[in-house]
Amino acid sequence: MLTVAKQLPVMPVSNDFLPLLGTDYVEFYVGNAKQAAHYYINAFGFTPLAYAGPETGLKDRASYVICQHKLTFVLTTPLKADSSIAAHIARHGDGVKVLALLVNDAADAWKQTTQRGGISYQQPLYLKDNYGEAVISGISTYGDTVHLFIERKKYGGVFLPGYNAWAPSFAANLVDTGLLYVDHCVGNVGWNQMNMWVKFYEDVMGFKNILSFDDADISTEYSALMSKVMSNGNGFVKFPINEPAEGKNKSQVEEYLEFYNGEGVQHIALATNDIVKTVKDLMRRGVEFLKVPSSYYDELLDRVGKIDEDLEPLKELGILVDRDNEGYLLQLFSKPVQDRPTLFFEIIQRKGAKSFGKGNFKALFEAIEFEQGLRGNL
Ligand code: FE2
Repeated sequence: MLTVAKQLPVMPVSNDFLPLLGTDYVEFYVGNAKQAAHYYINAFGFTPLAYAGPETGLKDRASYVICQHKLTFVLTTPLKADSSIAAHIARHGDGVKVLALLVNDAADAWKQTTQRGGISYQQPLYLKDNYGEAVISGISTYGDTVHLFIERKKYGGVFLPGYNAWAPSFAANLVDTGLLYVDHCVGNVGWNQMNMWVKFYEDVMGFKNILSFDDADISTEYSALMSKVMSNGNGFVKFPINEPAEGKNKSQVEEYLEFYNGEGVQHIALATNDIVKTVKDLMRRGVEFLKVPSSYYDELLDRVGKIDEDLEPLKELGILVDRDNEGYLLQLFSKPVQDRPTLFFEIIQRKGAKSFGKGNFKALFEAIEFEQGLRGNL
């Protein structure tokens, strides 16, 4: 006689222990925040939003907050040599320190993630001013990078308590470039470290591995690397993780690790609804992009099929196209935005596709290799 197997408890459909509402802001530690703010405002089309520094009671740093649609960047510089911010810059150069995530309950986000093995970076901190209360907590991730959890549902001020509105007259008539939100944020980690960080995002933050690329996908002849894409439950936050792989030449990830002095954020992908217009505008303002050989376009339409855009402007601007089962995407990669070959930006327009441009890896990595060669780092 058959016995009935003990029924397993039914898991609730939504069991996301770390509900994320999206990216709140990205904070960069830079050598000169005043000048970096000018670069992002003038070249990328951001708008000044808020400022904190000695004039607002901060003795050790100055932070400039800039925004564009749903994008918020914070540019922070140290004022004293003996600060942890100065040490970060000495070690890494300009780079991303904080990937801040918007939550409804920052104390709970900290509790859930630290209970699961996350290393606390910031215990829940309750910040108040005349505009209400915000709560900030955080955990460490790869390298010296951290995730802050930002709760601002009871806060009505311009950014966070401690910041004043910042509206310099030089930016009064500037217009944006159509950059909308963070599509994804890529981390470079060390040799054989990718799966450890995949497990961190699974165990500590409840993310899922939605895509993987091995060194066969990301060809050995070109800047070999392996990559796994981690996504949170609602798909609002996506973190691909790269590690170097053995190839004929030095991996682009190795070059990054050498010059960043460790693991960190490699690129931030910024979404637009009109990539041709956005990229034209960015180029006119002085943002530099990688260039693929014009032969890339010879067989492009055979590979990706019919697209809405005219081929000629894509070719002229060097915009790449790829297709997956759900649609297609257009993308383009900037050159590094500081002298060290570390952080760069991706501009992306999705037309149904949810992937990351695997079909472009070969052309893209050839372009990256060309630049690595110019730097003498191949
Ligand atoms: Fe990307």
